[in-house]
Amino acid sequence: MGKDAIRVVGLGAYLPEHVMTNEEWSNYVDTSDEWITTRTGIKRRRIAAPDETTTDMAVAAASAALEDAGVSGQEIDEVIVATDTPEVFLPDTSSFVQHRLGIREVPAYEIGSSGCAGFIQALDIARARVHFGGGRILVVGVELLSRFMNWKDRNTCVLFGDAAAAAVVASAGEGGEILSAVAGTDGSQTGILTLEVGGTRKPFTLQAAQQGSHQNVVMNGREIFREAVRRMSEASLKVISDAKLTKNEIALVVPHQANLRIIEAVAKRLELPLEKFYINIQEYGNTGSASVPLALWEARGLGRISAGDIVLLTAFGAGFHWAAMLLKF
Ligand code: ACO
Repeated sequence: MGKDAIRVVGLGAYLPEHVMTNEEWSNYVDTSDEWITTRTGIKRRRIAAPDETTTDMAVAAASAALEDAGVSGQEIDEVIVATDTPEVFLPDTSSFVQHRLGIREVPAYEIGSSGCAGFIQALDIARARVHFGGGRILVVGVELLSRFMNWKDRNTCVLFGDAAAAAVVASAGEGGEILSAVAGTDGSQTGILTLEVGGTRKPFTLQAAQQGSHQNVVMNGREIFREAVRRMSEASLKVISDAKLTKNEIALVVPHQANLRIIEAVAKRLELPLEKFYINIQEYGNTGSASVPLALWEARGLGRISAGDIVLLTAFGAGFHWAAMLLKF
């Protein structure tokens, strides 16, 4: 490993206490455990308490990641928060996180609304920033999606869950070395997964609120499914070849957890056994920007990652944006 290796030197996560089962959803919408399980693989998800906010979750996950890295907030030189569900509309969530963690007056910013690919994008930015500027960067992926969902729309509400996870990126310390990363965007597909009310196109109005359209997530599930499989697979192959490795050298794939069938289709397309994929969608549903770091943290905690393992991260989300990264532990 080179002298200038940039690594993920700490990981942490936070999960809200309340576990909501598929059965519970049938109290709100016409659905069933059978439908949700067979179409998505999801059995349960966490739902944040009414008094919990995005910052609370981000700070809890970040504190755990700092502890794991053996550093204090004072030793952090930059903060990046990836989220689609910010604390407030203005300013961005990173300011709240910086203040709550007692981090010095360092640069802090948000990768906002880039869907589930946001965390890997943020890790890649952190890698470049550490490469040129040194120091330690705190990267958080956090989502309080239950507060933005329409709890009457069965097409979307059952898919998501709330969670936060975080990483510390640095050149000093032990952890997964970032070998390669790619990211891409196809902005011709913005309408396929969107929440329009609240922006300049459709400003937030009393009428919009009364109609519940501020929570009107529009989603073309089938189109997302197709694109997710294609883009996550292609991005995976690209990071593997960029690192001059072969796919058979991958010890573990940590994919975005949106749908078990999407993960199965990616495995098939990559011609990798499903056993090489870390899957926790049954427990947490789709947790957006928190999905990949949460799965990585959990996989490591369960001993699924050993020293020397090559781990592939791959994600896809609204935009469309996609990203992948290769780590060597
Ligand atoms: N319970 C019961 N029935 C439902 C539910 C539900 N929760 N939701 C939809 N249905 C019904 C629909 O009304 C429709 O009924 P109809 O045929 O009578 O109109 C039918 O089920 C839809 O069936 P399909 O379209 O065949 O469902 P499909 O097998 O495509 O699964 C799903 C839908 C789960 C949304 C799938 O397309 C998917 O996961 N797509 C990806 C979506 C995604 O990942 N979104 C996350 C955001 S982006 C990201 O993270 C990458």
